[in-house]
Amino acid sequence: MGVIELRDIQRKYKVGQVQVIALKKIDLSIEEGEFVSIMGPSGSGKSTLLNVIGCLDRPTAGTYKLSGERVEKLRDGKLADIRNDFIGFVFQRFHLLPTLNALENVQLPLIYRGMLGKKRKRLAKEALEMVGLGDRIHHAPSQLSGGEQQRVAIARAISMSPSVILADEPTGSLDSKASVNIMSVFQELNEKHGITIVQVTHDEKMAQYGKRIVRILDGEIERIDVLENQTIA
Ligand SMILES: Nc1ncnc2c1ncn2[C@@H]1O[C@H](COP(=O)(O)OP(=O)(O)OP(=O)(O)O)[C@@H](O)[C@H]1O
Ligand SMILES: [Mg+2]
Repeated sequence: MGVIELRDIQRKYKVGQVQVIALKKIDLSIEEGEFVSIMGPSGSGKSTLLNVIGCLDRPTAGTYKLSGERVEKLRDGKLADIRNDFIGFVFQRFHLLPTLNALENVQLPLIYRGMLGKKRKRLAKEALEMVGLGDRIHHAPSQLSGGEQQRVAIARAISMSPSVILADEPTGSLDSKASVNIMSVFQELNEKHGITIVQVTHDEKMAQYGKRIVRILDGEIERIDVLENQTIA
């Protein structure tokens, strides 16, 4: 059984008189420890799918099992708990607080969870070391490159030890060198630490870092490519 099990997932939006079916009928299982890339044209439903997987949004029909538990009908508070326990998010824009340094930014979710100072600092430092930023912990976002800022955002996402990282165009604001660097970080988290990774990307090269590429078109899965060769130069 997959850590993520989506069955007949549909997501409709109604804005005024206009109804949009962002997801039509998605069936998708993702195994624990997988690295999956989601690709598709703009407006095809990729972010909607990621938001449903991340329990930021609910499907209007279908069932969703996350780590064996049906979540599609849970009330908001319970859904937020599940999200905090299982999921770490990374976005195109890093969403770091400019007045806090790297170590403080990574500690934010731990503060929200009520963790005490000493443990919090230790976990944040470990997370920053895991993304190769052990020597930048006192830098503010403005003193870091774009790629380094994204690595801080990844450290923040892994500080809570999530089973799954969901990343919506994590390299969308980065040049190709920084992008490859972020993919190496994901690969290491995936291979060494067994974290399941689901990323949305527009970049075929970045998508190749996944073990499968799920291609979405008009709210449906058009095709899934399984990649044989995992060695990337
Ligand atoms: N909150 C919302 N309310 C109404 N319609 C929405 C909402 N979010 C998304 N949609 C619609 O659902 C469709 C899918 O949007 P989504 O953001 O998932 O696309 P996407 O594949 O991520 O596109 P992009 O590559 O541009 O980020 C679009 O037609 C969009 O207009
Ligand atoms: Mg999107």
